[in-house]
Amino acid sequence: MTTIDAPSAKGSGSAATDRFKTERLSADTPPERAKMIYDDVLDALGGVIRKHEVTYAEYKVLKQWVIDVGEGGEWPLWLDVFVEHHVEDVNYSRHGFHGTKGSIEGPYYIPNAPKLPSVCTMPMRDKDLSADQLVFSGQVTDLDGTGIGGARIEMWSNDADGYYSQFAEGMDIPEWNLRGTIVTDDQGRYEITTLHPVPYRIPHDGPTGKFIESYGGHPWRPAHLHLIVSASGRNAITTQLYFRGGDYIDNDVASAVKPELMLEPRKGEDGRYHQEYGFVLDPAPED
Ligand code: DHB
Ligand code: FE
Repeated sequence: MTTIDAPSAKGSGSAATDRFKTERLSADTPPERAKMIYDDVLDALGGVIRKHEVTYAEYKVLKQWVIDVGEGGEWPLWLDVFVEHHVEDVNYSRHGFHGTKGSIEGPYYIPNAPKLPSVCTMPMRDKDLSADQLVFSGQVTDLDGTGIGGARIEMWSNDADGYYSQFAEGMDIPEWNLRGTIVTDDQGRYEITTLHPVPYRIPHDGPTGKFIESYGGHPWRPAHLHLIVSASGRNAITTQLYFRGGDYIDNDVASAVKPELMLEPRKGEDGRYHQEYGFVLDPAPED
C-alpha cells in the first residue's frame, strides 16, 4: 500500500482548473475602470521592483514560476490562497452586511451537491466515521431572528487525510463524499453530523509549494468547514467555520480566519463533538 500524506498539487490543481474553466464568466468592467485597475496594478508592481531593486535573475525566476503555475494548473489554488481574502473582504464590508460574516470560497466548491434533509449525516465512508464526529446544529434566520424554512446549506470539507472529494485523483473517494446541500426544516433548523475537520495542508508539491518554501512559510490552513448558505430573497453567504484555539488559527496560509467564525464544540457523553451555530442572512441587495 502506498501512503500519501497530503493531496498532490498535480491532481487537485488541474481538477480545480478544469472545474473553473467550465464557467466562462464575464464581469462587464467598463474600459475606464479596467484602465484604472491595470494602471494601479502595474504601478504597485513597479513600486515593489524599485523598492527592492529586483534583480534580473529574480525577474527570470518569476517568469519561470508563472509558467510553472499555469502548466501545473495551480492558478485557482494560488489565487484563492493569496488573493481571494482581499476580494472577499471588500465585497462584504463595503455593502454593510449585518448577517453572518463571509470568508473565501477556495478552489474546491462544487455546485449542486445532493440534497440532504434537515437532520442528516454527511456522506462518509467507514474510515471517515472512525474519525471524530461533529454534530452541528442551529437555525438559519433573517436579521430579525425569524427562521427561514427551506434555506439551503451547502457544506463541503476535507477528509481526515486532507482530501476533498473530486479533487484527489487516484484516491478512490466517492464523488460526493463530505459534500451536501442540507435543506432546513420549516423553522430554518438543521442538525448535521459530519467529520470533525482537521488542519489541512494546501497541495504543496508543485509551484505553489515552491513559492511558500521560497519565503520559509508553511502550507497549513486551520481545520475548517466550508459553507454557502442561501434562501430566496436573501443574500447568500459563502463562509468558513473554524475551531477556537486550533492549530494555525493565527497563521492561516490563506489569511481567511475571522473571529466571528469560531466554533468551540464540546465533547458529549456519546463521544461526539456538539456545536450549535446559527446563520443570519441579510436581505438580497437591490440592484
Ligand atoms: C485552498 C484550499 C482550501 O481548502 C481552502 O479552504 C482555501 C484554499 C487552496 O488550495 O487554494
Ligand atoms: Fe478548504
